[in-house]
Amino acid sequence: MTAQAPAFDPGDFRRALGSFATGVTIITTRDGDGEPVGLTVNSFNSVSLNPPLVLWSLANEARSLPAFRDAEYWAVHILATDQEALSTRFAKRGEDKFSDLDLERGLGDIPLLPGCSARFQCRTASRYQGGDHLIFIGEVADFDHSNNPPLVFHGGRYAHATQRVSTKPGEPYLAGSFGEDFLGYLLGRSHFRFFSRIRPYLEKAGLSDEEFYVLSAMTLKPTMSSADLGKLTAGVLDETSDRTVDSLIARELLTRETLADGATCYRLSDRGREIALELISAAKAVESQVLAGLGPDEDTVLKSLLNQLLGVLDPDVGSIWHPDDPRGSNA
Ligand SMILES: Cc1cc2nc3c(=O)[nH]c(=O)nc-3n(C[C@H](O)[C@H](O)[C@H](O)COP(=O)(O)O)c2cc1C
Repeated sequence: MTAQAPAFDPGDFRRALGSFATGVTIITTRDGDGEPVGLTVNSFNSVSLNPPLVLWSLANEARSLPAFRDAEYWAVHILATDQEALSTRFAKRGEDKFSDLDLERGLGDIPLLPGCSARFQCRTASRYQGGDHLIFIGEVADFDHSNNPPLVFHGGRYAHATQRVSTKPGEPYLAGSFGEDFLGYLLGRSHFRFFSRIRPYLEKAGLSDEEFYVLSAMTLKPTMSSADLGKLTAGVLDETSDRTVDSLIARELLTRETLADGATCYRLSDRGREIALELISAAKAVESQVLAGLGPDEDTVLKSLLNQLLGVLDPDVGSIWHPDDPRGSNA
């Protein structure tokens, strides 16, 4: 690694710093008028266990600087993964950041936010000027923590923290055979095992897998054009698609209409909607049971990755779920 030239590019410096993944905190206090003050901070770090010390740094140009400079107490909130919107709100300059928030009161009346991964209430121990930031060291006077998984910041974007699992794939009988490391095997087996828990509900409703697929697709929009339904069934039902639609129409769960421009569209009947909603809620209950077996926040990570994978394998289908998303292709 070569030494950096003294006049390096600030943007590049920022990007290099961004490769250090951090949590995200909101630090709060009260100003001289007793008004709550706070901002989003990821320069937080632990310093010492005994005495218990933490640090963070505040930009010289921050509006909240005078309040923190004069404050005896401040609170560090380690944000949970579902608090990204709160982080964004507190990263804005001087807005009314606390409106509508359910605040608790801490030492010296500092405002405390609920729902975090952890909170540290600190008394200012020392301050140091560090270039264009003021470094605060605080002695922790009180803290609390929860099981809420933390929000992560990395490379200038919010991220998820999931713990690594070291699995050693078994030795396959044939070198290179379809083992635990093969995406097709993982997706295929997961699909079959997952669906086998939903199928009893379909059988009770007298529906085939294909009929359930079309019914659930029909819950995406009140009126589905045959083109959109074609996109949703393409590569999944194909030859059986027309037969499945006809069977649902014959059972009066679906209606077919011809629009003024001659295009065909479909709608769920009242009974069709009722059955679809019942089955979806049963399927969601199965989903909750299955996902409860994963670690905190891993369900969100799994869904996010599968959505990305679908975007690669089936880019057209996203335009039906998100018609206004410019990334979706409506071609
Ligand atoms: C993830 C993230 C981390 C941040 N970390 C810091 C930080 O450590 N120190 C800082 O002064 N500003 C940091 N900021 C920027 C402040 O939150 C932002 O400038 C805020 O508007 C300051 O509010 P104020 O001007 O009302 O004090 C961060 C912003 C984000 C989104």
